[in-house]
Amino acid sequence: MNNLTDVQHLAFAQESVESKEQADRWAQIKRKATIKGDRFALLHGDATTALKKVPDGSIHTCLTSPPYWSVRDYEADEQIGLEDSVEEYVERIVGVFRQVKRTLTDNGTAWLNIGDCYINGAKANGPKWQRNKQLALVPFRVAIALENDGWLVRNTVVWHKPNAMPSSAGDRLTNAWEPVFLLAKHERYYFNLDAVRVPHKTEDHVERRRALEGTADGKAKGQDELRRWLNSPRHRATIDGLKEVRRRPNAPLATELAAYLRAAAEQKGVSIKAVARTLDQPFERVRHYFRVDEIGARRPPEETWTTLKSLLDLDDRYDEAMAVEVGDNVFRNHPNGRNPGDVQPFSLTGGASDAKGHFAVMPPNLATWCLRASLPPGGICLDPFFGVGTTGSVALALGGRAVGVDVREDYLRFAAERFQPQPSGRGKRTK
Ligand SMILES: C[S@@+](CC[C@H](N)C(=O)[O-])C[C@H]1O[C@@H](n2cnc3c(N)ncnc32)[C@H](O)[C@@H]1O
Repeated sequence: MNNLTDVQHLAFAQESVESKEQADRWAQIKRKATIKGDRFALLHGDATTALKKVPDGSIHTCLTSPPYWSVRDYEADEQIGLEDSVEEYVERIVGVFRQVKRTLTDNGTAWLNIGDCYINGAKANGPKWQRNKQLALVPFRVAIALENDGWLVRNTVVWHKPNAMPSSAGDRLTNAWEPVFLLAKHERYYFNLDAVRVPHKTEDHVERRRALEGTADGKAKGQDELRRWLNSPRHRATIDGLKEVRRRPNAPLATELAAYLRAAAEQKGVSIKAVARTLDQPFERVRHYFRVDEIGARRPPEETWTTLKSLLDLDDRYDEAMAVEVGDNVFRNHPNGRNPGDVQPFSLTGGASDAKGHFAVMPPNLATWCLRASLPPGGICLDPFFGVGTTGSVALALGGRAVGVDVREDYLRFAAERFQPQPSGRGKRTK
């Protein structure tokens, strides 16, 4: 995957459909880059400062692993990680991520892998909680600070390290995982779940039997069976939403619809009680169709909507949105596989094995897994703590582009060398 000879064979799928604004932003990044190639731009310097050169809304996804607090000296001015207190460290990471957020497109995301450490020695003299032997909980302090700074934290992925270094401590367990946070800028964002789905554990017919013992054809017979299936955690984990039943996927917000119905009823001079009588439904239920508050508003069901339309002389503005999509209500697993879940094993091997002197290289498999879900075809991936460029080489291998920042120019140069196309003949694909 990480073999750059493969890159040459990958179509740069979306290049031709990029808007002029996006193309201009990419050109602007390249103009400011210290080192650049066709599909990568690397900026030397402190992340917060260097990212100011990257235009707003120009990056599709970010994947990064900053220096962990109090672990390693990168021997560079302005480096992050050697702050006296966790609080100062958290503040600096939040500062970098404020820039990351600015540079992301509105539907962009960021993956943040960050490790923990124990408080000991001189550091045990901080505020009350900073006692000797205390787990500092750095990743969670950072995640909470990022939430407070406007990010949406969507997942704490457990990166399980099957080959984690055993601990010599006799009074606690070996640390065999690290968190990888999935952060979003807004509620709606690009996420290609299909790209990371995994095979189902059971065949469809087994699922059906489990859900509906005694029903030969696996179809719901009545509301109770349907509800039982839809509410089961197994269903929620495996099924493709509610496609197989009747639903209105594009229905407007209940409050919006209620305001519309209320105005129509007033216009027509019809009271809610009269509507309830005509519908032959309890007033207590019907009044919710006319409540414009978020807690009380309810959308009328399918049959009721049809009656309301003629009763209140509704126009056709919501016809399409209220149209019901009918599936076959046969229970089945999602055709593209199961959601992989938020615990993922990636062994600590296979980073840039030739990454001279750089000891904190991200496993390429971890980077590939993240970027397959969050990097749109031809999109731009940012890593503000680029190191020797694992995230960049994976982004390129997936047909995307890479933007990297690092305080160590030698790391960036080393990464750029790896990105250059190999001489022809090496690593050619066989058919
Ligand atoms: C954990 S390493 C990243 C490794 C990278 N994921 C890889 O696979 O090569 C952290 C990197 O952050 C860089 N760094 C430290 N402080 C920085 C700062 N203030 N701005 C930008 N980069 C910094 C270090 O030089 C180091 O390369």
